[in-house]
Amino acid sequence: MITLSVIKADVGSVGGHTLPTVEMLQAVRQRVQEAIQRGLIIDGLVTHTGDDIAMILTHERGTNNREVHVDLAWNAFLAATNVAKEQGNYGAGQDLLVDAPSGNVRGAGPAVAEIEFEPLPSYRPAESFAVFAADKCAPGAYNLPLYMTFCDPMHNGGLLLSPRLHEGFTLTVIDMDAREGDRLIKLDVPERSWDVCALLRDMDRFAIESVHSRAFPNEQVVSVSATRLHNIAGRYTGKDDPVAIVRNQGIFPAPEEMIEPYLIGHFVTGDTRGSHTMPLMPVSINTPVAGAFCLPIVSCLGFSMDGKGHFSHSYVDFFGDGAWDSTRLHVQRKAVEIRRQGFFGVAMASQSEIAYTGLVDTMKKLDKEFFSR
Ligand code: 13P
Ligand code: MG
Ligand code: MG
Repeated sequence: MITLSVIKADVGSVGGHTLPTVEMLQAVRQRVQEAIQRGLIIDGLVTHTGDDIAMILTHERGTNNREVHVDLAWNAFLAATNVAKEQGNYGAGQDLLVDAPSGNVRGAGPAVAEIEFEPLPSYRPAESFAVFAADKCAPGAYNLPLYMTFCDPMHNGGLLLSPRLHEGFTLTVIDMDAREGDRLIKLDVPERSWDVCALLRDMDRFAIESVHSRAFPNEQVVSVSATRLHNIAGRYTGKDDPVAIVRNQGIFPAPEEMIEPYLIGHFVTGDTRGSHTMPLMPVSINTPVAGAFCLPIVSCLGFSMDGKGHFSHSYVDFFGDGAWDSTRLHVQRKAVEIRRQGFFGVAMASQSEIAYTGLVDTMKKLDKEFFSR
């Protein structure tokens, strides 16, 4: 079995919350190379999306593995944090929320998406997968695109055209407000599609955590890093900036069936201070957040993996293609339009999201000044 692990964190950035420095990335790459050399992992690639550094790794150690999560990923982020501190970078170590994670880094700050699978079984002679990484937003940002891909034939004709896709999928949705342990629900689509809608519309609270094939129930097609930082820290500590793995082709949707929803530039919670409603802009890999608004951004890399777990030699940068330029313009226009109304109404994040910001103190103060008539 091969495990594909994507582990991402913001451990500091240059000139504000824009992008990590070359030296920080170098510190992480060096550790990934060392881990390959000593056989801890099979392959690895280090990228950034905005101010978040992502490690894309393959190994045979299973999900939530201590050596991969802590010995490699956490320590690599610590090394980059040290570089960030030396360089005086902004937010050094921001997403490393505990002193020392015990078994794995879930719930310790970094975003984790992982899928374990048998490479190249007879019914899947080619392994093709995509890694999404988003900055300045939260895990619910993937709700709408994943819904469109796995539940809506108006956007994914493959649900009608492919017999395997037509058998449907099992969606595991997590309640991100639950504090005491994980609270989950499994829903089969298409039968439960409207129940799925009822949950996913509230993207601040519910997020898709995983999707499995119903034709091949052992095959997981999606993994999303669906936890929230402020549940861990209890206060605003930056956004969760989620990653997702989506396997594609063959028994799964085609790449175009999974990226087409990003044409919308749908509104998500995030942007400045994580406290606005702004459209999600598809961008090429290694893009800084440097626009007028600190816009939520998402990158998407496509890979092929061989039977031994190697994948990093080549990749396709889906959103880097010029085909997405008109979408970026469209998204920028949407952003300008909603920002014209400043903090009023839906332009600012929902009450539950801003409950972790300084607005809480203001409301408490004003509360005392209210009088009854
Ligand atoms: P990051 O989580 O990417 O650091 O963003 C924090 C923020 O508040 C942006 O304004
Ligand atoms: Mg940051
Ligand atoms: Mg970030």
